[in-house]
Amino acid sequence: MNMLRKSFLLTAAFLLSFTVLRAEEGMWLPQLLKALNENDMKALGMRMSAEDIYSVNRSSLKDAIVSFGGFCTGEVISDQGLLLTNYHCGYGQIQRHSSVENDLLTNGFWAMSKKDELPNKGLFVTFIVRIEDVTQQVFSGIDPKTGEKELQSIIAKRLPEIKEKATAGTHYDAVIKPFFYGNKYFMFVTESYKDIRLVGAPPSAIGKFGGDTDNWVWPRHTGDFSMFRIYTAPDGSPAEYAEENVPMKPKHFLPINIGGVKPGDFSMVFGFPGRTQEYLTSYAVKPLVETINPARIKVRDEKLAIMRADMQKSDKVRIQYASKYARVANYWKKWIGENRGLKISQAVAAKEKEEKAFQTWANSRPEYASLLADMKKVYAQQLPTEMPYNYMREAVFGAEILYFAYRTSHYFEASEAERAKMLKKTKSQAEGFYKNYNLPTDKALFARLMEMYANDIDAAYHPDALKKAVAKYKGNYAKFAEAVFKKSVFASKEKFMASLSKPKKVLKDPAFLLTKEFYALYKEKVVAVRKETGSKLDLLMRKYVKGLMEMNPGQKFYPDANSTMRVSFGIIDENEPEDGIRYTHQTHLEGIVRKSESGNPDFRMPKKLRDLYERKDYGRWAENGKMPVCFLASNHTTGGNSGSPIIDAEGNLIGLNFDRTWQSTMSDINYNATICRNIGMDVRYLLFIIDKYAGASHLIDEMKIVSKVYRQTPAQKSAAAQEGTLTKPE
Ligand code: ARG
Ligand code: ASP
Repeated sequence: MNMLRKSFLLTAAFLLSFTVLRAEEGMWLPQLLKALNENDMKALGMRMSAEDIYSVNRSSLKDAIVSFGGFCTGEVISDQGLLLTNYHCGYGQIQRHSSVENDLLTNGFWAMSKKDELPNKGLFVTFIVRIEDVTQQVFSGIDPKTGEKELQSIIAKRLPEIKEKATAGTHYDAVIKPFFYGNKYFMFVTESYKDIRLVGAPPSAIGKFGGDTDNWVWPRHTGDFSMFRIYTAPDGSPAEYAEENVPMKPKHFLPINIGGVKPGDFSMVFGFPGRTQEYLTSYAVKPLVETINPARIKVRDEKLAIMRADMQKSDKVRIQYASKYARVANYWKKWIGENRGLKISQAVAAKEKEEKAFQTWANSRPEYASLLADMKKVYAQQLPTEMPYNYMREAVFGAEILYFAYRTSHYFEASEAERAKMLKKTKSQAEGFYKNYNLPTDKALFARLMEMYANDIDAAYHPDALKKAVAKYKGNYAKFAEAVFKKSVFASKEKFMASLSKPKKVLKDPAFLLTKEFYALYKEKVVAVRKETGSKLDLLMRKYVKGLMEMNPGQKFYPDANSTMRVSFGIIDENEPEDGIRYTHQTHLEGIVRKSESGNPDFRMPKKLRDLYERKDYGRWAENGKMPVCFLASNHTTGGNSGSPIIDAEGNLIGLNFDRTWQSTMSDINYNATICRNIGMDVRYLLFIIDKYAGASHLIDEMKIVSKVYRQTPAQKSAAAQEGTLTKPE
């Protein structure tokens, strides 16, 4: 909760003329920038007004930003609806258009004219029409003494009414979400487009360059981009896919600035960050660092080792498990970095210090006096569930056979009539599952994960079936696995498909029974407790954040990320994340060449790229004879910010956000501007790939390319910020 320290920033910067504390923390609501952040942004070098970023009365930057499929961000970069996002965000679509004969993943894809652009069923993008504070409407007339349960049920009834009123007679949708743990509610009126066509993607050797080896890592050299186009009905309105649809005419699109980036330049990320928990107390962060993250990491260590061993032995398994492996590895690596960052920044001690200050303030205020003590008690009540909770998700459901038995259990327990309705879906679920299933790998996973559960989890959380197996096989988990896999119909596609018409038998299947018992115990002893502690914590956190705001009336607070539209601002910057490690702000094509010499297949460099490098055939995209690839900035970002534009001082696109450095991943809990850096792909590398590698310069003709440098001295920046009055919180 470094924002508690933020209020000192401006005074420190202006009066002492050196900056110890930095202003970059926060994911801010775009409609509140004017009231809260405009001057801070100018102090960092911004040369736009808050209105240029968000306005409902005229076009603004927000009109070029979309939520891409609900899980990433994208931005419009031409007046014909051309859309940019990450390669890893468009990956599913690119993969679906690929086949052995037409392998877009390996070869890349470039539509050379609009009629070659590929439709994508189910893909949509969402613009924000306007954002409204609806807190008053949500709470009006409710007695403040109303109990939590009743309060939540009243609110649940009101939200649809408010949304209905806001969108009646339009084709808009609306979402209302709680902010600051329910102290505030904001409504987002949205407009979604559903005809989104694939325009271009580099080969994965560029779009995924570095693979898992480089994930969450700096120096980075990934060309993590793909391009789509938004189509509308001929009259410009959103429409389902139809051949006669036309490219969208956006209210705004981002010009692209190839002027280059240097440390100290203003940068801003605009997008849809998914989830952060910046206000967690030490009672939550301590078990996360000491218990939860180590447990999750330990289980995933084992899962990855087992998958890796089999993937190395067989090409078939390597392909089957590639995406599963990547999914497990992504957060495994994230949690390791997160713990590292939390330790380096001494996050627990810092939180404890803040809590001590809060307690001193609260002692004379009956409403808050016992809040922290109460919270501590609830976390203590929740603590015993953490290990079984995480092991259920990571270890028990890490055995694929158990997770698949769980996912299809409803079918086998259903009535005949219901089964008939579910048959088709269950079959297609099975097709998908067994396509990427290797029995020996799963058997090894099962044996190891059951052993870990039995050894690491308190016996009070062992279902009978596990206890019996432990007694019977006396620590030989391979034998346990052998027995289960020999008998279970879930171990083979043929047996599974055949058993769809004989569901009674499955009710006695060993994998089915084991899953059922684990799940029943989990619900009774883990979920039940966590439901109770969870709703107590919701209420306590709501009060805690409210208390913090009362305690620091001059302070600006930002709400945790919740997949709504946000702005983060900062500067292009290098840093020293750990003792003796220096991250410079920019990487170049040279780095790709060096990495490619390591022999690691994650670093395979396409020959054509190598040739361009040898010839230094960079067109107008290089800087001093070198081709920039990625850069670092101090913008506060998280999952969901992938594909977000990194924007310069005047609203042009300079980069495409896609990751954070390893130590930065703690920013979901504890952002620290000295340590945390987001990673973006430089627009010049993007244009170079489109132009020189793909030969798709017709796409560049569509864009608006500018070349500008907005470098300001610290004195110029503070003068710009002081033009207005210093920020006063709402
Ligand atoms: N770490 C980034 C994010 O969380 C990128 C993940 C995709 N890349 C990968 N190598 N798995 O989304
Ligand atoms: N890689 C993340 C994403 O896909 C971004 C991040 O966590 O920094 O959204």
